Amino acid sequence: MRLEGKIALVTGAASGIGAATARRLAAEGARVAIADLNEEGARAVAGELDGQAVLMDVTDTASVNAAVADVTETLGPIDVLVNNAGTDLFSFFVKTDPGLWDFVLGVNLRGTLAVTHAVLPGMQERRSGAIVNVASEAGRVGSQGSAVYSAAKAGVIGFTKAIAREAARYKVRVNAVAPGPIETPLLNAAPIVYGEVGERLKQGMIDATQLGRAGEPDEVAAAIVFLASEDASYITGQTLNVSGGLSMS
Ligand SMILES: NC(=O)c1ccc[n+]([C@@H]2O[C@H](COP(=O)([O-])OP(=O)(O)OC[C@H]3O[C@@H](n4cnc5c(N)ncnc54)[C@H](O)[C@@H]3O)[C@@H](O)[C@H]2O)c1
Repeated sequence: MRLEGKIALVTGAASGIGAATARRLAAEGARVAIADLNEEGARAVAGELDGQAVLMDVTDTASVNAAVADVTETLGPIDVLVNNAGTDLFSFFVKTDPGLWDFVLGVNLRGTLAVTHAVLPGMQERRSGAIVNVASEAGRVGSQGSAVYSAAKAGVIGFTKAIAREAARYKVRVNAVAPGPIETPLLNAAPIVYGEVGERLKQGMIDATQLGRAGEPDEVAAAIVFLASEDASYITGQTLNVSGGLSMS
């Protein structure tokens, strides 16, 4: 087991990629805190893993700080942080308004900053730790109907590189994954909201992959756990595409 005795915090872990990551981290021996806005979902995942469910709204700094303090007190200092909480409100940019910009940037980008800000000082003090941010291929290539989300995820990739440079001297590694289309409620929101247009957006993403299919949450979780583990001990500041070859840079 690659993470025996480690304490891991996963945001947005009640569903999709976050839940799959929590399961894999636990299977590797970590004690896992399942942080989410959806308390009931977090409790269900925590129950499977003997983990800790914790209410956290990543857009609310006070909620983030309280949740991190709670986890640290209950499980111990956090060794692995997975900034996974994310959302999108599919809409063509001309139809969006500043309220949508703030919401989408708030969850995906500011949320990643807030949780990192709460957790990284402890890692630096202990001179050990790994952070994995969940970005998106949208942040690499841009995604139609997701302009603000694409901007947020590109921000997460830039943030990952900058923090990797700042944290390296404290032996903390910071990496990201950039998933392509993954079968989760988030991917399926477009068809639900926009019907046939949303279905075409989803199919367009799948057609852009080389492997010609959507991925499963566990295929992203495997890459996240690799980056969090000592198997990736010489890797920092990188963004690993987990997207069936959607982009190759
Ligand atoms: N599914 C895809 O195709 C895809 C592709 C690229 C990147 N991603 C990214 O993967 C990550 C996980 O998404 P998913 O596809 O598993 O979606 P999902 O909707 O299944 O899970 C997202 C989770 O985040 C939680 N969440 C949302 N807002 C939150 C907040 N303010 N505070 C705390 N938790 C919050 C939700 O309650 C939910 O449990 C996201 O960052 C997403 O942008 C997904």
